[in-house]
Amino acid sequence: MTRALLLGASGFMGGYFARAMAGRKMEVIPLSREKVDYCNYDVLRDHIRELGGIDYLVNAAGFSGKPNVDQCEVQRAETLEGNLLLPQMLSHLSAAEGFRWLQIGTGCIYEGDNGGGGYIEEDPPNFSFKQNNCSFYSGVKAVAEATIKDDPRCHVARMRIPFDEIDNPRNYLTKLLTYPITYDNINSISHIGDFVRTSLDLYEQDCPAGVYNMTNEGAVSTREVVAMIQEIIKPNRKFEFFSNDEEFYKVAKAPRSNCNLNVEKLASMGLPMRPVREALREALENWKVDKGR
Ligand SMILES: NC(=O)c1ccc[n+]([C@@H]2O[C@H](COP(=O)([O-])OP(=O)(O)OC[C@H]3O[C@@H](n4cnc5c(N)ncnc54)[C@H](OP(=O)(O)O)[C@@H]3O)[C@@H](O)[C@H]2O)c1
Repeated sequence: MTRALLLGASGFMGGYFARAMAGRKMEVIPLSREKVDYCNYDVLRDHIRELGGIDYLVNAAGFSGKPNVDQCEVQRAETLEGNLLLPQMLSHLSAAEGFRWLQIGTGCIYEGDNGGGGYIEEDPPNFSFKQNNCSFYSGVKAVAEATIKDDPRCHVARMRIPFDEIDNPRNYLTKLLTYPITYDNINSISHIGDFVRTSLDLYEQDCPAGVYNMTNEGAVSTREVVAMIQEIIKPNRKFEFFSNDEEFYKVAKAPRSNCNLNVEKLASMGLPMRPVREALREALENWKVDKGR
């Protein structure tokens, strides 16, 4: 049985991973910083040794800003600690202690559709500090990915704009349902269940280490998703859209990435994520309102 450590188990994605890993042949050991200061190399190494070693580690810890990525412009130390120092430290530790690991990456290090085909894993980020056009969050994530992308023990699973049927402030569909005004863009996006399952499959099916674009097949515009929401959930409200960047950036602080990712690498591993419209429709048809919200 795989003995697996889960970092950031208390977080949004950590909760999904905890449930999915428990359903597999894995002995899951969830960790929070409160219990074990896992951002400290010596502390985490000693904890792993006390456990008698581990086979696998899922890093669902990180700092993506609350209520949104604008907060990473303010909390720069946390952004660096959670998204750069921690993955870099895990890379060193995995080599020393001999375990494999998963890092939740992001596709928000690109801008555009790369001439229609979407960005492949090897394309250099074009929404990064090097172009001086990015948010602090995306810039740090791009630097972090560059430092671990050749780690022979690591899968970097690039997620984008997570959604599913469970109402939550982190869910893209909840955001569209609650934003007073929305900005229309075309994006590749990730169904959370598909993302988590496929991330764990990378390990269980012994796929080569490296970076993987992990979005559902295809790309979708915000207007199209809103139209699906209107058709299926039928909320009692009107949807308004910003008409240009100038209007949008009066409200948003940090630059936002809008991009399409190419998912052929994942499909070539026999692990395709279903078409995005199919995943969206299923989420909307099974929509569960959070009545406490
Ligand atoms: N949500 C998204 O839209 C999205 C999209 C793409 C990628 N991601 C990535 O997915 C990962 C998890 O994101 P999430 O949305 O699940 O985040 P989250 O709900 O904020 O949870 C992250 C967890 O990370 C731990 N953590 C460790 N170091 C931290 C630090 N310096 N600052 C704050 N928290 C820290 C905390 O758990 P403990 O204190 O309990 O240990 C926290 O509960 C991150 O790498 C994020 O960049 C998220």
